[in-house]
Amino acid sequence: MGKKSLYLVISCVLLASFVYAPLPDNIEQPWKLMMTWATMRVQIHLLRLLDTLGVPSSVLLYLYEVPPTSDANVIVTDTLFNKVPVRVFEPKQKLSTMRRAVFYIHGGGWTLGDAAWYPYDDLGRQMADKLDAVVISTNYRLSPQYHFPTQFEDVYDALRWFLRKNVLAEYGVDPTRICIAGDSAGGNLAAAATQQLLDDPEVQIKVKIQSLIYPALQALDMDLPSYRENAHMPILRKTEMVVFWSTYFTSDKALEEAMLANQHTPVESSHLFQFVNWSTLLPERFKKGHLYTNPIHGPSDLATKYPGFLDVRASPLLADDSKLQGLPLTHILTCQYDVLRDDGLMYASRLRAAGVQVAHEHVEDWFHGVLSFARYFRASHRELRKYLKWLEENL
Ligand SMILES: *[C@@H]1O[C@H](CO)[C@@H](O)[C@H](O)[C@H]1NC(C)=O
Repeated sequence: MGKKSLYLVISCVLLASFVYAPLPDNIEQPWKLMMTWATMRVQIHLLRLLDTLGVPSSVLLYLYEVPPTSDANVIVTDTLFNKVPVRVFEPKQKLSTMRRAVFYIHGGGWTLGDAAWYPYDDLGRQMADKLDAVVISTNYRLSPQYHFPTQFEDVYDALRWFLRKNVLAEYGVDPTRICIAGDSAGGNLAAAATQQLLDDPEVQIKVKIQSLIYPALQALDMDLPSYRENAHMPILRKTEMVVFWSTYFTSDKALEEAMLANQHTPVESSHLFQFVNWSTLLPERFKKGHLYTNPIHGPSDLATKYPGFLDVRASPLLADDSKLQGLPLTHILTCQYDVLRDDGLMYASRLRAAGVQVAHEHVEDWFHGVLSFARYFRASHRELRKYLKWLEENL
């Protein structure tokens, strides 16, 4: 064998071993998924490299953005809601009756993402078109430039601006048919904002639905069965989720390390663990094969310096039952192979126990982020259609 063909063989083996990832048996289109996941991992490395070089990540992530372009059915505009940039999708056809509305919050670990990213642009367009709804897709300032509570406050400011009577009237929105929705970190912000509305004397509107799509809902226990089982699964690994969580609060690596060891919560806050106790809150089938151990407490200085992770606006699962009781009809989507699966499952249990109506959709055969891949994967496309149908029937 010549040197050249030897190099070729070695390169192929290296490439194949990088691309290959063991996947569960029930995954459709496994090779396509492995390729996608390999591409994402390359991007994660590139982002880290850019970060070390001090180059803003927007250089790379700009590739995902699409301009606000109206089509045959939907008018798309970028505007500001109380200084917060939002993308608005409105059905073109004039209606004599008022429309329902979705206030949407994108995901991306509080660090990445934009309403202009094509999966979110696609989603906003389809919601507006299929539901004949006004869709507001909000942006918010991101980590690591901005930490909690900036993300929450930006979203909440935009939401409050939208929920005023005159703004709703301007967009022709029926105030009794409004949904707050978000995926991943956006699901976290949606849950937190919906809770906050309950205590806001300035907002008279009652939201009809909150829709939490594979949401992150607690930063206390990073050793849930879903974190154990899916630590190395595609789309979102445990290490990345822990970096997202800790960077939401600080750039201090000490919090990240303590969270990875699951020893970041001080003993003074031990009473909060009842709200995230998977031993009591998870359905039997998700507990199978796992042993619950009481949490190990960390030093109190982390919680003193970065109290955000114990704040209910960052960890909506920490709200007590009296607060949860006031929440509207809640749609929760969870994925089997997702580190965040148990956050959603535990919130569903807690809401049901508090008497809140819950519509829970569990995707057995996909990973975190299923709705964002509707252009490429059959399972994603199927789930997106199901989701739009549910909203069509319930909003
Ligand atoms: C969690 O629930 C289990 C089983 O009910 C119980 O033994 C344990 O003490 C609880 N732990 C905490 C921290 O609430």
